[in-house]
Amino acid sequence: MLDHDQAPPLSKESRGPVNPLLRRKPVEQLVAEGGQGEGGVLRRSLTMWQLTMISIGATLGTGIFVVLGEAAPVAGPAVTISFIIAGLTALFSALSYAELAGSVPVSGSSYSYAYATMGEFVAWVCGWCLVLEYAVSVAAVAVGWGQYLNELLDGIFGFTIPQSLSAPLGEGGFVNLPSLVVVLLAMVFLMRGAKESARINTIMVVVKIVTLLLFIGIGVLGIKGGNYAPLAPLGIAGISTAASTLFFSYIGFDAASTAGEEAKNPKKDLPRAIMLSLGIVTVLYCLVAFVAVGAMPWQDFEGTEAALAQIMTDVTGHSFWGVVLAAGAVVAIASVVFAVLYGQTRILFAMSRDGLVPKVFAKVDEKTGAPRANVLIVSLFCGALAAFIPLGELAAATSIGTLFAFALVNVAVVILRRTRPDMPRTFKVALFPVTPILGFIACAYMMYSLPIPTWIAFGLWMVVGVVVYFLYGVRRSRLATAEM
Ligand code: ALA
Repeated sequence: MLDHDQAPPLSKESRGPVNPLLRRKPVEQLVAEGGQGEGGVLRRSLTMWQLTMISIGATLGTGIFVVLGEAAPVAGPAVTISFIIAGLTALFSALSYAELAGSVPVSGSSYSYAYATMGEFVAWVCGWCLVLEYAVSVAAVAVGWGQYLNELLDGIFGFTIPQSLSAPLGEGGFVNLPSLVVVLLAMVFLMRGAKESARINTIMVVVKIVTLLLFIGIGVLGIKGGNYAPLAPLGIAGISTAASTLFFSYIGFDAASTAGEEAKNPKKDLPRAIMLSLGIVTVLYCLVAFVAVGAMPWQDFEGTEAALAQIMTDVTGHSFWGVVLAAGAVVAIASVVFAVLYGQTRILFAMSRDGLVPKVFAKVDEKTGAPRANVLIVSLFCGALAAFIPLGELAAATSIGTLFAFALVNVAVVILRRTRPDMPRTFKVALFPVTPILGFIACAYMMYSLPIPTWIAFGLWMVVGVVVYFLYGVRRSRLATAEM
């Protein structure tokens, strides 16, 4: 088990090039500073299984319970193939994440990998994209949670939360109360520290896996061979469009890499957790998709809001099983909110220690070992986004921001192999450099295929990020103050 060492002072060599945009933080420095916060240190308590559960927690949710229903009418019964294609795209980047997480086991994830390889400015841009992948997606997923909660309330009690209290201004309501509640609940648990959070996360992950296994077990009884023909009614184009949509369902496998400073044995366990979670999630997705399109004609998914719950009801002939599925989905989506919120707090923790965001994000509560002020600020921000702001294109920009960060990780793995060939690596990308190059191309292609309004939202987001960097980070950076 590792302990957090006292961070050594920044040496002259560690500053990298004098150009502020290009100054890099050496891997050794990043690792030595690991866990060190303001007034306390993060505690190393997470095992390999808990790390795997964090990644599954952040990944498995809206994609399979909601987005599958949108992708099935596009790909037809071949939607399972779309899941495999999206999973392969994620796999290339996951391999790069696994190599870097094993060699730079800190909490900043791709932000820290970029800092070590491409310099401060690219790292900041990457960190800013991670806010899209994590904080904005927490808000978007929380909004989806509110919709599933309404399905559940309708199924059990026959009533739904009125529009005025379940949508923000501009979308026919005043406040989205359910999404605010789920974010605040996650906040309360995250305040207890990593160990407690991991326990709660594991319980929720087990519930969602059991729910999906139950769906597979019951849904398989309703499969009709005829539903699989024709396999791809809308051709290859339908399969690939659905694959880009379904990529969303794989976002989150990298969440374990935000727990590097709280893992007991990060060098060995982080790569395993990332790969294992992706494997488990892919198998579950493919089985669920295969059973779903076998049990319900693909055309019927159009306009069916909670398709999986509907299938359970239809196959068993009892609405009870539909309600069970909806309850599982409510837990599943809440667990995405929880695990992704955790990831965002730890990324900001790393950025704060580097001086790129205010110090308050790195403050650690001595009693719980949790960055409580950080958790509070991030939760209030995400809760307010979900409750009061119509997210529209900003939510759509989540995928583009994530793809951008993934693309940078594929570049970082190549750079680090060239600049630090002898560095000990507990996991190595297979077929190097083909795999990271393919990973980069896959991410670039998926970004390219996203619609123009999403690009505009992404562009605006990045402009704000660059302005914030030049107003704050460029001078406050710890590397900059070391230079002075
Ligand atoms: N992959 C996550 C989900 O499907 C974002 O909810």
